[in-house]
Amino acid sequence: MQIKALAPAKINLHLSIGKRRDDGFHSLLSIFQMIDLADSIAIRIESQTFVSIKVDMDGMEAVANNTMELAASLFMKEAGIIGDVKIDCIKRIPHKAGLGGGSSDAATVLLMLNRAFGYPVDTNRLREIGARIGSDVPFFLGDSAGACVEGRGEYLTPLTHRNDLYGLVLMPHGEGVSTAKAFSDLDAYRDTTGIPSELLSKDELVAMYANDPMDWHFTNDFRPVMGDLGPWYDRLDALVAEYPGCFGTLSGSGSAYAIVSEKREILMALRTKLEIMVSDVTIYDIKSLHRSHSGDTVIV
Ligand code: C5P
Repeated sequence: MQIKALAPAKINLHLSIGKRRDDGFHSLLSIFQMIDLADSIAIRIESQTFVSIKVDMDGMEAVANNTMELAASLFMKEAGIIGDVKIDCIKRIPHKAGLGGGSSDAATVLLMLNRAFGYPVDTNRLREIGARIGSDVPFFLGDSAGACVEGRGEYLTPLTHRNDLYGLVLMPHGEGVSTAKAFSDLDAYRDTTGIPSELLSKDELVAMYANDPMDWHFTNDFRPVMGDLGPWYDRLDALVAEYPGCFGTLSGSGSAYAIVSEKREILMALRTKLEIMVSDVTIYDIKSLHRSHSGDTVIV
C-alpha cells in the first residue's frame, strides 16, 4: 500500500511569548496560519513482519533527528503494529525558517499512518504523541488552517478561516535560526532589559485576524533578538509599509519573513521591488490554506 499527502507550512502572524515554565518551555499566544508551501510525503507499508523505518529526504539535506522517523516509530509503538514503513519526502519547506516544516512532516506522517491502519489511535492520544515530537505538531494535527495557539502549542482555538490571503515568504540564504537558541536569547534579553511581552489579548488577536491586513498590528516577540538579521527585517518592514494593504512579519523564531495581503496586484508590485532590492534570498509565492486544503491523504 502506498499513501501520499502534502505537509503544509505555517506562518505566525502574531507571536507573543510568556515566561519560561518549570518544564523549560515558554507559554505562547500566537496566530498560526497554514500556507500552501508544502513538503510531499509518500509512505509505503510493505510487510507486516518486521519494523524498519526508512526516510529518504529528496532535495534537502537529511536532518539528524528526523521528525518523520520519530513520528512513525512512536505511532507504530502506540498502535502495537509491526510493519515495514518506508517514507519518501520531497522537501520544499526550508529548514530553520520558523515555518514549521519538521512539525508538519511529523503530523502528516501520524495522520497518514492512523488513516492507513484504520484509526487505531484516537485524536487526543495522537496530539499527545505529536506534542512529544515538537511544540507545533498539535497545530498541524488540528482541524483548522488558522488558529490561535496557546500553552506550549497544545491549546488551539480554531479561527474562521481566511482563504483570501496572498503572500510572499522570504527566506534568507545561510544558516537559519535555532528555535532553542532564539528562546534562550529572548530570556537573556528580558533579564537585561526587563521588557515584557507586548500585551494584546486573545480576543483582540482573534478580532484582528478577521480584519483586512492593512489594519493588523500583530507583533513578534523574537524581533529584538534576531541579531545580524535585525537590520534586514527593519528594511523589509519599511518597504512593506510603502505598499497599502500589505502586512509583514518575522515568522516564528525566524529566519523567514512573511508578507500577507488581500490585494494580489499590490503584492506583485512589492515582489517586483523585492527582486531588485534583495539578494541571497529565496522568495516563495504563497496563499493561505483553508480547512479542506489539498494536504488530504490519498491512498493509492
Ligand atoms: O518543541 P520544539 O522542538 O519546537 O522546541 C525546540 C526548543 O524551543 C525547546 O527545546 C525549547 O527550548 C524551546 N521552546 C520553548 N517554548 C516553546 C516551544 C519551544 O521554550 N513553547
